[in-house]
Amino acid sequence: MKRFRSREKRSRKIGFLNSSSLAHPFHHFQKFISLGLSISSPRAFCCGDYTLSRLIDEVFTYSRDALHVLSGRVHRTPLDFSRTFSRLSGNSVYMKLENMQKTGSFKIRGAFYKIWRHLDDAKRRGVVAASSGNHAQGVAYAASLLGVEATIVMPETTPVFKVNATRGYGARVVLHGSVYDEAYRKALDIVEESKALFVHPFDDLEVIAGQGTIGFEIAEQIQSVDTVIVPVGGGGLISGIGAVLKRLRPGVRIVGVEPRNAPKYSVSRQRGRIVEVEPIPSLADAVVTKCVGEKTFEIMNEVVDDVVTVDEDSIARAIYLLMERSKIVVEGAGALPLAALLEGYMHNSGKNVVLVVSGGNIDLTTLYRVVLRGLASDGRVSILRIVLRDSPGELLKALNIFYRYRCNIIDIRHDRYSLYTPVGYATVEIVFEAPEQRVVEELRKELEKSSIKVL
Ligand SMILES: Cc1ncc(COP(=O)(O)O)c(C=O)c1O
Repeated sequence: MKRFRSREKRSRKIGFLNSSSLAHPFHHFQKFISLGLSISSPRAFCCGDYTLSRLIDEVFTYSRDALHVLSGRVHRTPLDFSRTFSRLSGNSVYMKLENMQKTGSFKIRGAFYKIWRHLDDAKRRGVVAASSGNHAQGVAYAASLLGVEATIVMPETTPVFKVNATRGYGARVVLHGSVYDEAYRKALDIVEESKALFVHPFDDLEVIAGQGTIGFEIAEQIQSVDTVIVPVGGGGLISGIGAVLKRLRPGVRIVGVEPRNAPKYSVSRQRGRIVEVEPIPSLADAVVTKCVGEKTFEIMNEVVDDVVTVDEDSIARAIYLLMERSKIVVEGAGALPLAALLEGYMHNSGKNVVLVVSGGNIDLTTLYRVVLRGLASDGRVSILRIVLRDSPGELLKALNIFYRYRCNIIDIRHDRYSLYTPVGYATVEIVFEAPEQRVVEELRKELEKSSIKVL
């Protein structure tokens, strides 16, 4: 796991609902240097032992409003204590289960609040978004609840099940381009023409305020919280949660997690400016973006105390463990906070840690692969390749040994055509469940004793 620290930064001016009232100098924890801005009247808010900028205060205020707006329309998701992960990490670990949110992720919060605030315009001209994932479903569902027409532009490469899910929520889907950037530009063209309301996935302060309602819920659900660990894509989720919790619980640490394959915030934070990275595909596909937003970058620099990156194996392991131990189905992005603990972050700190499990929309083929890999690494599913003489009874002899060791055969492939197998022999690949890991070694020895070569 890699950790990234912030360098000195210079803030830019950002507009919120009333842009003239915003963007002021702010100070933060000692590791952040105060930022020089061109605004003449710094109206920073004193909060506990440090100050928060007006911007954060503004997000907080709108997020509190969003909490009322969303009440009864989206789920107040549970905060579950996990005995297993607490023991494993040496902390008290709680999970904020946004995978149980309507549409399977937190995205409905920001989308609903954004559309609700512009309802008259949205009803007249509709809303537009570009996304191939959770944001598409969040906007489509929010629009349908509010009686608004939604157009979602998705890359042509979007898996059919995601297109169908978005259509299923009543949206018109336009397939355009091969990557997100092309779909995004098309969405802006549609907005230009139709004057529809554009719902940005993260770099919009109303959307951020909607995501911030999770912070209010966490503060209500747990009295004493030391650290909240949040996945970072474009940065809207962590900005909202951070802005709210830094006001409500000034001592809380906000920690971001990214896949090592797409470390856009980590790199930008280190360099002190927004940097585009060339992402590599990740299991946490929902957070694979080239860069964070301008607004989110400013907010994150103020509210995020630390950011770490995790590798693909840890993400896969976290998905597997959440399913196996907690019976919770999550997608890669939702598993990032647990992946950070698995890589040893905050090990044995004895703190109250909240993991934001941000979404559960994982497709079954990915889940299947992750589960198989998890079972294999636990030694519960194994593969042996053996070489047999190609004559009647040889396979039966081998299978009898598997039977004696109570191994359950899942799959078997008999290959006599391979150029690597001598003439008159066959290579057999056997996938099986062993009752215990040590049995695999005993089985291997027994096969070899019976003159069956194990590759
Ligand atoms: C499941 C899930 N988790 C986390 C994120 C990251 O959110 P943000 O882009 O606001 O940082 C996303 C973004 O789409 C998501 O779908």
